Amino acid sequence: MQPFVTEFMSKSVKNIAILASGAGSNAQKILEHFSDRMDIAVRLIVSNKQDAGVLNIAKVASIDTFIVTRDSFYATTDLLVELDKRNIDFIVLAGFLWLIPPYLIQHYPDRIINIHPALLPKFGGKGMYGHFVHEAVHLAKETHSGITIHYVNEKYDEGSIVFQERCEILPSDQPEDIAKKVQVLEHSHYPTVIDQLVSSLPL
Ligand code: GAR
Repeated sequence: MQPFVTEFMSKSVKNIAILASGAGSNAQKILEHFSDRMDIAVRLIVSNKQDAGVLNIAKVASIDTFIVTRDSFYATTDLLVELDKRNIDFIVLAGFLWLIPPYLIQHYPDRIINIHPALLPKFGGKGMYGHFVHEAVHLAKETHSGITIHYVNEKYDEGSIVFQERCEILPSDQPEDIAKKVQVLEHSHYPTVIDQLVSSLPL
């Protein structure tokens, strides 16, 4: 008799979990990118907000979801159980704002990445997310902003940088205009960078 092996248990597929707590526009693009792939699949979307838009995106795409509370995330390894159940190989942060605890980093060494909506090391750190970043960039009268994709370590926005792309800021640009330009870069580059990193993982 054939042993019971579900698709995600198969060694030939690399599995991704996305941690996200916002609208989920990046998660949407990542799902679209991998939707017809046999070798890489998004298996789980984790959020710390019950009402995050990303959960609706997961529902429409029939992706499993898991909600973490602050206690469960920092004081238990419940999330690891969910990740292990689905043989998750790689974790993508897409608008997930909590610091990643050491047990998760140790379980996924160089296998957790984040996207930050500015050119790190500038405009990073605790409290620098979403519109706060674009407002700070605007206030500093920067001529460029952009995106940074980096590995995740125990500190906010300090892991080694994998990829950056810049966009020009016009003197007339308001924080909302900067946000739009940066979002275009996020949507066009994050899925392909993830693809490259995950594709190069050993099976
Ligand atoms: C993205 O712009 C991402 O760069 C940012 O949250 C947004 C999530 O948007 N992350 C940070 O600011 C992390 N410091 P989304 O929910 O539409 O993908």
